[in-house]
Amino acid sequence: MCGIVGYVGPRQAAPILLAGLEKLEYRGYDSAGLAVIDDGKLQVAKAKGRLQTLIDQTENGRHPAGSIGIGHTRWATHGEPSDTNSHPHLSQSGRFAVVHNGIIENYQALQTWLADKGFHIVSETDSEVIAHLIEYYAERSDDDLIDVLIKTIGRLDGSFALGVLDTKRPDRFLAVRKASPLIVGIGSGENYIASDIPALLPLTRDVYLVDDNEIAEITAAHIQLFNLDQEPIEKDVYHIDWDVSAAEKGGYEHFMMKEMAEQPRVLGETVRSYVHGGQIAFGLAEFSAAELKALRHIHVVACGSAYHAGVYAKYELERLTGIPVNVDIASEFRYRNPLVGPDDLVIVISQSGETADTLEALKESRRKGARVLAILNVIGSSMAREADDIIYTIAGPEIAVATTKAFVCQVTVITMLAHHFAYLLGRLSDREMADCCDELLQLPALAENVLQDMSLYQEMASRLYNQTDMYFIGRSSDFAMSLEASLKLKEISYIHSEACPAGELKHGPISLIEKNTLVVAMSTEARLAEKMKSNIAEVKTRGAHTMVVTTRALQSLFQGVADDIVLLPDARPSQLPVLSVIPMQLFAYYVAVLNGRDVDKPRNLAKSVTVE
Ligand code: G6P
Repeated sequence: MCGIVGYVGPRQAAPILLAGLEKLEYRGYDSAGLAVIDDGKLQVAKAKGRLQTLIDQTENGRHPAGSIGIGHTRWATHGEPSDTNSHPHLSQSGRFAVVHNGIIENYQALQTWLADKGFHIVSETDSEVIAHLIEYYAERSDDDLIDVLIKTIGRLDGSFALGVLDTKRPDRFLAVRKASPLIVGIGSGENYIASDIPALLPLTRDVYLVDDNEIAEITAAHIQLFNLDQEPIEKDVYHIDWDVSAAEKGGYEHFMMKEMAEQPRVLGETVRSYVHGGQIAFGLAEFSAAELKALRHIHVVACGSAYHAGVYAKYELERLTGIPVNVDIASEFRYRNPLVGPDDLVIVISQSGETADTLEALKESRRKGARVLAILNVIGSSMAREADDIIYTIAGPEIAVATTKAFVCQVTVITMLAHHFAYLLGRLSDREMADCCDELLQLPALAENVLQDMSLYQEMASRLYNQTDMYFIGRSSDFAMSLEASLKLKEISYIHSEACPAGELKHGPISLIEKNTLVVAMSTEARLAEKMKSNIAEVKTRGAHTMVVTTRALQSLFQGVADDIVLLPDARPSQLPVLSVIPMQLFAYYVAVLNGRDVDKPRNLAKSVTVE
């Protein structure tokens, strides 16, 4: 969702801004723009559509000239994607330019207030008011722009990361954030801002992670952070130890394929970070048996795929710990005055650590006294800074909008967490714990096995890619993986798809089954396989084309009822959720490719959903 970049230094800004925006494309956007100060004046280029249009318009950044600038990719919330609604927005006199990521909730009231003061609003966005407010306060005082910016953000309700250019000070720009991501990059003789690390990787490895209500003043030689009382803040430099190749396609056609192929490696890294000598330990999340015994409830809260990992967490944590577990979509949780308190543990799950609804659910839970454990992929993200305990998935940077490697790492962390809690509660013996650790350590090799012959999934996709509707069914943890399989297909192929618990089929979805409708049954749990077989038979009788994802051990049960069988290696229950979802990621990928979709950047979707 919206990305911002900024540059000041001796070089021409435009090519650097464009390169930065290119690295932020993965966040999702529908227009892009940049502004630079050249010869004391703002020069702006904006274009609806792909970044390439802006690159063409500026002849690859050959113009405008100028060595200080800000850039933006916009994911439309208020006002359609258009040149006018694109950022940067200028103040009325043209003195200030602003880029904004987030949502200004009181923008209509501010528009009315500004109109009264003689300001003319030209776009339909919630962001433009910020540029005019800055000008309003700047015109009425001799205050420095830092003071003006503090007054301005005091008027804003909502979330923002801002970059601000002032033509009267062509040597510096300002940035500030509240509940939207922002980092400041430390260069040598030049400095930068960005929404996210990939934009800065080719430029620097040293950054400041800006916190809410901190203002950064950035010149080519100097970076200074201030709090709202204008007191300077000292911050630790955060060193990024990613490999540049982590944010490159490395020969793959799409990031999504690269990231799926990386799954064995990142699963191994995640498991080996927490499994040692037949035991599981999470350095940043330590619980005692007494603390776990005192828990009344566990609440798992997340959005999108992370929510599906949460559904799996409900099954797995309840089964192993005996503690009641609720699972919630963050946007529903935060607005219903959730019944959480000091006796509860809230587990939030998020790849980015920035999803607005999950972040707010986390804050609300802490306000109510609950302990919050965050399962996150991005170190230093907003949720990492707010949670009591953290377990990182070691998936590395994920660029494709549709998550794959981060999701399987979330599922694996949950498996580890559930076993760890059960062990601490005395519900698992040393032997059972050691077996679980062995199973986890074998997971990368099993995942490799599933990924070995991609042509299987390609072949199935080539027969089934022109379906208009697909249905996914499963029971227990297979249901959780069905939810994810269905979402994966829907988000990148644009084919209508639903997942339902197999037992619910008869209460509605079965009325939609016609001749050749594809129904995918995920069935890896032996105790539920007979029931799944009956469900498959029910849809087959009504003409469905049936596919089952199952193990070699259960294969014979489905012969005759399943038209296609996706065979998983025989594996333990702790391994099967991850193994069963990988073929469905690949199937979704090939269906999307065959339909000519933009796999890494599906329409209307964003990687990091920083607005609610
Ligand atoms: C977006 C992404 C999904 C992701 C969801 C939650 O919708 O496209 O892939 O699952 O946000 O994001 P999070 O970063 O909190 O896991």
